[in-house]
Amino acid sequence: MHDFHYKDDILFCEDVPLGKMAQAVGTPLYVYSSKTLTDHFQKLDRAFSSVEHLICYSVKSNSNLAVLSLLKNLGSGFDIVSGGELFRALKAGADPRKIVFAGVGKTADEIEFALKENILFFTVESFPELEEIDAVARRLGKTAQIAIRVNPDVDPKTHQYTSTGKAENKFGLDMEASVEAYRKALTLKGMRATALHMHIGSQIVDTEPYQEAVKKIIPLIQRLKKVGVPLETLDIGGGLGIVYKEETPSTAEAFARAVLPLIRDLGLKILIEPGRFVAGNAGVLLTKVLYLKTSPVKNFVIVDAGMNDLIRPSLYGAYHGILPVVNHRIGKVVSDVVGPICESGDFFAKDRSLPSVEPGDILAIMSAGAYGFSMASHYNSRPRVAEVMVRGNQFQVIREREKLEDLIRGEKVGEV
Ligand SMILES: Cc1ncc(COP(=O)(O)O)c(C=O)c1O
Repeated sequence: MHDFHYKDDILFCEDVPLGKMAQAVGTPLYVYSSKTLTDHFQKLDRAFSSVEHLICYSVKSNSNLAVLSLLKNLGSGFDIVSGGELFRALKAGADPRKIVFAGVGKTADEIEFALKENILFFTVESFPELEEIDAVARRLGKTAQIAIRVNPDVDPKTHQYTSTGKAENKFGLDMEASVEAYRKALTLKGMRATALHMHIGSQIVDTEPYQEAVKKIIPLIQRLKKVGVPLETLDIGGGLGIVYKEETPSTAEAFARAVLPLIRDLGLKILIEPGRFVAGNAGVLLTKVLYLKTSPVKNFVIVDAGMNDLIRPSLYGAYHGILPVVNHRIGKVVSDVVGPICESGDFFAKDRSLPSVEPGDILAIMSAGAYGFSMASHYNSRPRVAEVMVRGNQFQVIREREKLEDLIRGEKVGEV
């Protein structure tokens, strides 16, 4: 599942002790395992090897250039949602013909940027966007390849904030509107509708929601083919769940076994957009214990990382395992693990039984490789932390720790 393991009482990433990196680079610190990233990508790639397919790693989950470059070298394409992510993917050497662009609010500038780079396709999420892409493409003398994002109205049984394929969600178009959008696209000179896209949510642990969505979409594909839509690709999105606590998510093989029999005979290339599945368990956030504090009702372990560094517990009530990087203390204490941010929502664990810790100890917040650094902010004017990539017994800083000057870049004292 991942390459973070104890050898005796020392927690390693691959062959490097985590404590060694904390000492060399400081804390808080994100550490990624190149082996885990590679293994997870290849598991999915192998699971779909019996069909023509393309994996487009979802850049939003972890957008560090070193992560993108590693995945590009394994053959990955990229799922992007902004001009900034396109910029990153290109900087990492991505093949634009393997880039797909989703999101409900693409601006004309972003559309132009992507058209000029000849990306594989845009995922269109509304009628006005369809017209905007057509207009920009015609102005540039280009033909945009597009997918309509179909909202199949299925319950992915995940956190309400990461459900994206239910009728009340802002994403995509319902079945009937999708047909209308494809018909409209057939009349627009600036585009060709060559793909169909769905993405029903994130951290989905069962295969049933995917099967249900695909079963709803198949008759739609057949209908679209009949009216002359030149479909070449079916993009089934991302969302595959991982283990944070005691989940038993479907494996890549089980996922492929569940969906491939339904879609393999459609004659379409299959595209998949995993983010969390590739990066989630491949990263940890190292943090140092600053202080211990006891109130009449709680024990607090106060650490140097905050919700600005890893917001998932605050935003989703998400669980992350927490392990000492040196496991040498006797006894357990039930505590809240909290950061220095001035919000009661700034916590990494509540009422968690942890090995007793002392100030100066380093803790690893596990499964923080996806939606960790990429959701980090400067809140409370805290510089963003450093990131490190491990390969075997080597490690490299892949993003330097920000300095105080980075906090005010572009700001002016102002004279008005
Ligand atoms: C369109 C799209 N594709 C793929 C993903 C990746 O999801 P996950 O990281 O759960 O695989 C997302 C995440 O929000 C998304 O919006």
